[in-house]
Amino acid sequence: DKAGYKHFMAKEIAEQPAVITQTLQAYLDGDRIRLPEPGIDFASLDRLTLVACGTAHYACLTAKYWFEQLAALPVDIDVASEFRYREPPIPARTAAIFVSQSGETADTLAALRYAQGKAEMIGAVVNVAESTIARESDIVLPIHAGAEIGVASTKAFTCQLTVLLLLALKAAQDRGHLSDSDMAEKLGLVRSLPGILNQALAIEEPASDISRRLSEARDILFLGRGIMYPLALEGALKLKEISYIHAEAYASGELKHGPIALIDEHVPVIVMAPRDNLFDKTISNMQEVMARGGRILLISDQAGIEQAGSGVWSALPMPTVDPLLTPILYALPAQLLAYHTAVHKGTDVDQPRNLAKSVTVE
Ligand code: M6R
Repeated sequence: DKAGYKHFMAKEIAEQPAVITQTLQAYLDGDRIRLPEPGIDFASLDRLTLVACGTAHYACLTAKYWFEQLAALPVDIDVASEFRYREPPIPARTAAIFVSQSGETADTLAALRYAQGKAEMIGAVVNVAESTIARESDIVLPIHAGAEIGVASTKAFTCQLTVLLLLALKAAQDRGHLSDSDMAEKLGLVRSLPGILNQALAIEEPASDISRRLSEARDILFLGRGIMYPLALEGALKLKEISYIHAEAYASGELKHGPIALIDEHVPVIVMAPRDNLFDKTISNMQEVMARGGRILLISDQAGIEQAGSGVWSALPMPTVDPLLTPILYALPAQLLAYHTAVHKGTDVDQPRNLAKSVTVE
């Protein structure tokens, strides 16, 4: 049931404030993070391995920044199809966490089976709690997103990020990097997420206007630095899945190592630049693109857009938030731009060609 929306994807984008509220309810207990049994003692771990496919893989890439920055816990990341055949050594005191909306992705399941008996513990971050991946794990961490029908993953992504952020905060506390009062402060920020996401959904109209122009492009680049790099990857994946426009994402600092050769006035470049400690660097990369005639769509908050100065092709203002929350917040413009570009192009948004919701063959 699309509940009055034109597509499941539109409904699922709009549902995010509500489903994240459910996710938070399941994991928060006052100023504590409560994990399902048997829990995870992050103090006893030296490493994490996060493995997934597609959008779930980008959730893992994002979480790597959180685990490393908040908890000083080193994280290895891989796509499941590479991990399973590379057969990497898994050092002692490593927990392996597999992230999958469906819980049935063949490569992710095979990667999990490879890690069984080698990793200290196997965790599953899944939407379908009765799935095979969940059943074969030591700890099931449900994301509580509710059924996701659109082939392009949206609410599952932000709920995966929410669970992974809570795990990173728990890890920071277990490992002595977060005092009780700092934890209370961070959880206060996390609790503000649904309200902020609601506010951010107001960019739907400008996002649709911009998307009309994006829909005429043949190629689109996404740029992001630091924790925005995986968000740029997710934006490009979403766009190519449903609009069939060729899109690629780069870490902004990689631009001058090759991709800048692609820039001309026909290539829109979407820059994801919240005002964090890397903002100035991203903006200078953006100016390099502008100097070569590239058309910039800047996604930042109002102050960031003003600070970046004139000359951008377009800008999408986001609410101002603490850097802890930007990955989850900036998923919304990535989703909305892809959605509206696809709608302008008239493609089959919920059932894009050649794709299946659950990839149960390798
Ligand atoms: O069910 P899973 O999370 O394991 O699926 C993984 C990918 O197939 C999935 O995220 C895919 O990339 C989506 N179509 C992205 O929108």
